[in-house]
Amino acid sequence: MEAPLTITLKHGRYAEDAKPVDRNAVAIADALSDALTDTYRLVLKTHACHWNVAGPMFYPLHQMTEEHYTDMFAAADVLAERIRALRKRASVKPARMIDGLDTEADTDADPTADEMVRGLLSDHEALSQRFYALVKAAEISGDPVTADLATERAAFHDKAAWMLRATAA
Ligand SMILES: [Fe+2]
Repeated sequence: MEAPLTITLKHGRYAEDAKPVDRNAVAIADALSDALTDTYRLVLKTHACHWNVAGPMFYPLHQMTEEHYTDMFAAADVLAERIRALRKRASVKPARMIDGLDTEADTDADPTADEMVRGLLSDHEALSQRFYALVKAAEISGDPVTADLATERAAFHDKAAWMLRATAA
């Protein structure tokens, strides 16, 4: 006998308890805004490495950073549009976005390629953790769409971290 196509939720948050989802949407949208801000911040930092990296690893790092900032720039739009779908205002947090960038991306500081790689690596690891936390929160609040999006972003940052870790001397 075939399984019925109709799904009846007896204890589902959507079926009987929609209000907690609405309340949690505020927290989820704020967490998305933090993730959006950190994503843009890493786009800027990755671009600075793309431009300024020098030495024997120039070409592979120049190429890898381009792949990474291109992906993250596109992802920022998806994150912002998810915030709008949750009926919240999409914005970055400016102070948070540039925090530390003036010294980290300062061309006069002239970091080595290895220092750049390790700096990017720690940011990808941190962003991955942020998205893992968002997956959990979104699942608890009955928001599988945000959970899926956060899962996808965590996978990207885990892969980027792996590539950078493998590159680091
Ligand atoms: Fe370029």
